[in-house]
Amino acid sequence: MNILLIGSGGREHALAWAIGASSLCDRLYCAPGNPGIAAICHAVDLKDADHAAVIAFCKTWAIGLVVIGPEAPLVAGLADDLRAAGIKVFGPSKFAAQLEGSKGFTKDICAKYDIPTAAYGRFRERSAALAYLARHGAPIVVKADGLAAGKGVTVAMTPAEAQAAVNDIFTGRFGDAECVIEEYLEGEEASFFVLTDGTHALPLATAQDHKRLGDGDVGPNTGGMGAYSPAPCMTEALCTEALETIVKPTIRALADMGHPYVGVLYAGLMLTRDGPKLIEYNARFGDPECQVLMLRLKDDIVPLLLACVDGTLDKMSVRWLDEVALTVVMFAKGYPGETVKGTEIRGLDAAGAGEGVEIFHAGTALENGRLVAAGGRVLNVTALGKTVKEAQARAYAAVDRIDWPDGFCRRDIGWRAA
Ligand code: AMP
Ligand code: GLY
Repeated sequence: MNILLIGSGGREHALAWAIGASSLCDRLYCAPGNPGIAAICHAVDLKDADHAAVIAFCKTWAIGLVVIGPEAPLVAGLADDLRAAGIKVFGPSKFAAQLEGSKGFTKDICAKYDIPTAAYGRFRERSAALAYLARHGAPIVVKADGLAAGKGVTVAMTPAEAQAAVNDIFTGRFGDAECVIEEYLEGEEASFFVLTDGTHALPLATAQDHKRLGDGDVGPNTGGMGAYSPAPCMTEALCTEALETIVKPTIRALADMGHPYVGVLYAGLMLTRDGPKLIEYNARFGDPECQVLMLRLKDDIVPLLLACVDGTLDKMSVRWLDEVALTVVMFAKGYPGETVKGTEIRGLDAAGAGEGVEIFHAGTALENGRLVAAGGRVLNVTALGKTVKEAQARAYAAVDRIDWPDGFCRRDIGWRAA
């Protein structure tokens, strides 16, 4: 079967690495891909926003399955248009992707299906939002609804901070986004990934990422500075509880609405004293959590993806390597703000030759035959090891072999697990 993967980040490089290794995959295409992805499959110059062009490509090249990596094309309805054209696609519909695209949508499902999450209010008017703040005090969390690349959330420790965040939203900083105000949850955060065909759910291995920019998990929030799998905090009992009380009711809710969710559902959880609570859903794999999951995946990924599409996930199981996988994100100066682009990266082949090491490209580009940084998060230096310490040592040894004076990373990825 020919497969088309949509996306261009580290997550998609890891997916391409896993899909390309499948005995079921004849030709793997990736649109648009990146230099790392282009080295292992056919990168094609297709804009995912041009649904007609993607459909035409699939027909021309006899694509049997499309796998959509990032959230933007899902929220834009690419999966719907492909399905309408009779093409198999792994990834939720526009309606179902609202679980990521609209916090209000998700919160209303939580309320209706009694899913544990932070108490909340939704506001279209500043005065009502400020009145809610006055009643609840701080700490409290203020969010702009819609896709804001993680920048729409303020965890306010004082009433003044919360008021400023509300005022920000109503002055239009996030367009005409609605304001969601939530109870502050305390605990450790964990990512929980489940494959689903719309009816059945198959949990994947546990993983945890580091969201903050600085060592010791301090500083501004980012897309993720590193990740590891398994996540020791996600015990089997907690996984079962999260599956039964959070994920399964959500899958049922979408099916009840007539829009079954097909793809991977990523629950961001807070492990509170009262059990796991939902912080947010994502309609895709985590980046960089996907990179560590792919490294530990023992089974062929393609039959799993197809079982989601075909509604046969109840017949499937999934096995993982016992080893720990850990990934270190190397980023360009300035991230998560404006970054310096075009700085040259050398020595990836030597660095990637280390035992158990895989280097996934995130924001790279080729310029006149030179590999250069072309984004904020640039490389995912990933390694397997018998222990967290061994995986850490291997990943950081590879990082240190990369000749990129303008690249930075945290030096403590995995500290909680170690
Ligand atoms: P979100 O975009 O909703 O995932 O929020 C981004 C980050 O803000 C999360 O990863 C948490 O670290 C933090 N956060 C979001 N909601 C809450 C909450 N209700 N209580 C505490 N922290 C939160
Ligand atoms: N690593 C967090 C995310 O993918 O949203």
